[in-house]
Amino acid sequence: MMSPDYIKEKVQTIIQLPALPTIAMEVVELVDNPKTSASRLGKLISTDQALTAKVLKIANSPFYGFPRRISTIDFAIIVLGYDALKEIVISISLVSSLQKKSDAVFDAKGFWDHSITSGVIARRLARDLGYRVSGEVFVGGLLHDMGISVLHRYFRNEYKRIVEILQETDLNAIEAEESVLGVTHAEVGGWLAERWNLPDHLVEAIRFHHSPSRADKNKDLVALIHCADVFAIRMSAQAVDFDKGLDFDSQSLDHLQLTDPQVLDQYMQSYRDLIKADLEQVTQFENAR
Ligand SMILES: [Fe+2]
Ligand SMILES: [Fe+2]
Repeated sequence: MMSPDYIKEKVQTIIQLPALPTIAMEVVELVDNPKTSASRLGKLISTDQALTAKVLKIANSPFYGFPRRISTIDFAIIVLGYDALKEIVISISLVSSLQKKSDAVFDAKGFWDHSITSGVIARRLARDLGYRVSGEVFVGGLLHDMGISVLHRYFRNEYKRIVEILQETDLNAIEAEESVLGVTHAEVGGWLAERWNLPDHLVEAIRFHHSPSRADKNKDLVALIHCADVFAIRMSAQAVDFDKGLDFDSQSLDHLQLTDPQVLDQYMQSYRDLIKADLEQVTQFENAR
């Protein structure tokens, strides 16, 4: 087994990645400049087609709740606001910078869907439960499993072994990772978040998304992201193997006052409807292009 210290060292030197991909850095600079116009920012984002498509998909998600279809980046900037857009672009860039194509042990689209779904549900859950809806909630949901991308990309053989164990045994994701690596994707994600200088609250939410009761800085954020993760897993059409075995933590449910199973079911149902609407809307959007 690799020693956890070795893995930590390797993750912290990731690992030759720039702190932030170039386009994200340019967006941050433009947004921070008070003289930037929406059209200049729009032009920059539009130079990256994949980024444009992802921003529009998020802007049009029924979870965000805008009644009109947002079909251009300029309009997305006006509707979402500079700050929200900045967070969306940065987090998309972070996830994309780590991501590799699908292979026998990693489903890139499934991973992306799980990340986005967790982000939009976390944001919606915060709003529905009366928490301050900060960008951190969406970003935390989007980034919570980034340790998976790190393991898949930088520890290939070990990741392959973990997937085999998940498929062949009853071990859950955390147990399988510990048996092979001695650390989990949650810890690895937390190390990378530190290395990227993400805010402490986000580091904590990523690190403890499978063990939320261990958090002590911002229990609200950790509980919201943990629960959004479980919602996203339960709503997924396919098995989310890399999070296998994750279920609601009773302290988190308590913290969010979601202990009544009926209430929990109602949230689940209403988010399911939103996801269905989301899929229909995306199909319409793609057909219209
Ligand atoms: Fe996870
Ligand atoms: Fe997850």
